[in-house]
Parts: sequence; structure tokens; C-alpha cells
Amino acid sequence: MNILILGGGGREHALAWAVLQNPKCDRLIVAPGNAGIDKIAECAALDITDGEAVVGFAVEESIDFVIIGPEGPLAAGVADALMAAGVLVFGPSRDAARLEASKTFTKEICDACGAPTAGWARFTDAASAQAYVTARGAPIVVKADGLAAGKGVVVAETVDQALAAITDMFGGAFGAAGAEVVIEDFMAGEEASFFVLSDGQNVLPIGTAQDHKRIGDGDTGPNTGGMGAYSPAPILSDAVAALALEQIVKPTVAEMAKRATPYRGVLYAGLMIENGQPRLVEYNARFGDPECQVLMMRLGGQALDLMLACAEGRLAEVAVNWADDHALTVVMAAKGYPGAYAKGSVIAGLESLPEDSHQLFFHAGTKAVDGTIRADGGRVLNVTARGATLQEARDRAYGMVAQVDWPEGIYRQDIGWRAL
Ligand code: GLY
Repeated sequence: MNILILGGGGREHALAWAVLQNPKCDRLIVAPGNAGIDKIAECAALDITDGEAVVGFAVEESIDFVIIGPEGPLAAGVADALMAAGVLVFGPSRDAARLEASKTFTKEICDACGAPTAGWARFTDAASAQAYVTARGAPIVVKADGLAAGKGVVVAETVDQALAAITDMFGGAFGAAGAEVVIEDFMAGEEASFFVLSDGQNVLPIGTAQDHKRIGDGDTGPNTGGMGAYSPAPILSDAVAALALEQIVKPTVAEMAKRATPYRGVLYAGLMIENGQPRLVEYNARFGDPECQVLMMRLGGQALDLMLACAEGRLAEVAVNWADDHALTVVMAAKGYPGAYAKGSVIAGLESLPEDSHQLFFHAGTKAVDGTIRADGGRVLNVTARGATLQEARDRAYGMVAQVDWPEGIYRQDIGWRAL
């Protein structure tokens, strides 16, 4: 079959790698892709948030199946456009993707279906939000309602921090995403990510992971899109995962179906776990990045069969063939990230290491220029390895990092510390 993946980050490189392990894939196009994806698949320039353009491209290239990577095309209704044109697609409709695109919507769904989550209130003006925070005290969590590229959440340790966050959000720091603000009670515990596929009715867990959101070792410094991840997440034991499935995910999927907006695609539940009890922090309507990289390395080619079964409403017929293994990825980023950073520095050393199903460089923000690989974004490389134990995967990944000759790159030295 001919497959099109939308996106151009490390997540999409990992998806492309997994899809290519499956003999069902005859031809793979990734739009826009990156320098690493270009080595294993065709890359195409395409406005991936323009539904009409994506449908036109899919028809022209006789695409049988489209996999949507990032949230932007989902929130823009690209899955709806493909479904309307009769093209099989992995990714939720715009209405279903509101589980990521609107924090208020998610909270309303949780309240309607009884899924455990933090207490909350919504505000459309700064003065009321600030009065609420002042009365409630800190720690407290301030969230922009809409999509803010992972930056719209402030866990305020003091009332002053919360007041400043409210001023920023209503002041336009996140554009329209901050026109409405959700204030949540602080939840103590350990955070982990639970990934399930939903075909609208059936749900199938496909793995757990933990990522490292802060830029600095020891979880210090500003938040990023994620500086590394590992799978499985020990805190999300089988017992905790079963609770999350029964108390949070299944009720959510049933509520979405009841509202005639069935959720079809991967549902990424960010959970806070305290004393063995999971509560929902947030949903994402896509694979996490870099969590996808470790999930794909563990799932390999079966990921395509699972995504196809999901898109075709056949999830009840399939099972995950679990391997008793571990995967870990270290994100290499450009100096300055998550603040300002330079583009264009040369990255060498990637060819010196044989890549196989145990060790892979997934590219994120990279570009090929005159036969060299150049940094072209904030998060640039995902150095990913698999092992029989987490320690083995970690040692392998950091061994690979040592091979990378990129003086302008930075990375955390402690990925996996919590589990190890
Ligand atoms: N790594 C966090 C995310 O993808 O949202």
C-alpha cells in the first residue's frame, strides 16, 4: 500500500521507520519530512494544515493510508477532509481532537464521565482569574485553553507566579489560545504517559512512557517539548494502567461516542499518579514527541497493523505483540533551546555507527546541505536505543551520543534517572 505520513519531526521519523518494517508498505511519502526521513522515504513539500491540499496530494499520489503526526493538522480538520474524500486516515476528527485543542472541553468531558482529574475553573478575563487564584492560594496550575506548542501550562509555586502567568496569557503571550484560561488545583505525584488506540468504540493500550520536560539535569530550568523519554514507565504498573483504562480512558471514549464525536486515533493520556491512583493531567490527540520514538522502537512493524486496525474500526480483532524490552531516547538540541538558538551548524559522526533495530538516530530539526547534515530547529536529534533492561538501553543511547560530533549541541546527561 501507498502511505503518507504528515509531519517532519523525530516523531514522524520514528513512525516512518516503523511503517517501513512492515511488508504491507510499498511506498512511503512523508510531508514535509527532514534530512533523516529523506534517507528512508520520499519527502514532499506540502502545507499539511490545508485539508484540500492534503486530499489533492493523496489522490494524485494514489495514497491508501494517511498517518497524521502533529496536532496542527488535526485541529485544522485535515482528518475530516480526508475522511470526506474517502481516504483512510489515522488521526481524530477536528471535533474529537478538541480533547487536546481545548483544556476546558477536556475538563467538561472528565466531569461528564466521572474521570478523576484536578478541580478546575475557567475564566475569560484576567481580573476574575486573579481573584480566584488569590483566594485559592498556591501551588496552583494556570493553563491557556488552546494549543500553545506545549508552553501554555504554568505550574505556579507562588500566587505571584500564577498572577504573572494570568497576565501573560490574557496579554496575548499565546495568541488566541490564551483568550480563555483554565485554573486547576495542583496535583502531587509522579507524571507518566499512557498511550491507547481508540477506533471510536474499542480501546487498545499500546504502551507507557515517561518524558523529561525540563531543559536541565535533575529536572531544572524551563520547560521544553521534551528532552528525552523511556518506555515502559515503571510507575505505570499493570495495576495502575488498568485503573487508568477503566476510570479515565474508557469513560472518555464512551462520552465522545455518546456526543456523536467518536475518538479515532491514538489517545495520549498524561497522568499524575499518587499512591497507585491515576488522575488525568491532560489529553493529547497524537503520539508524544519524543515518546513516540521509544514506543515505535519497541513496537516495530506491527505499529502499522495496529494503526490500520484503528482507522478501519477493527481494534477488537488485534492484539499487541509485546516484547519484554526497554527503549530510551536522548534529545540533542541546539544551544539556547528552548530560548533563541542558531540554525545551520554541521552535525557529523552519525555515519560512524551502524544503525539497526537496537540503535537509531531519529532526526527532528535537521536539513541536508551540500552533503552535510545541518541543525535546523530547536530539538534536532533523538538518539534512541533498545535493550533488555533500561540500563542497557541507556548505556547504548549515551554511547551513541558520544559518537555525535556537534559542538553546538546540548543534551541532558540523566535521561531515565527516575526509573533507574
Ligand atoms: N513530549 C510531550 C508531548 O509530546 O506533548
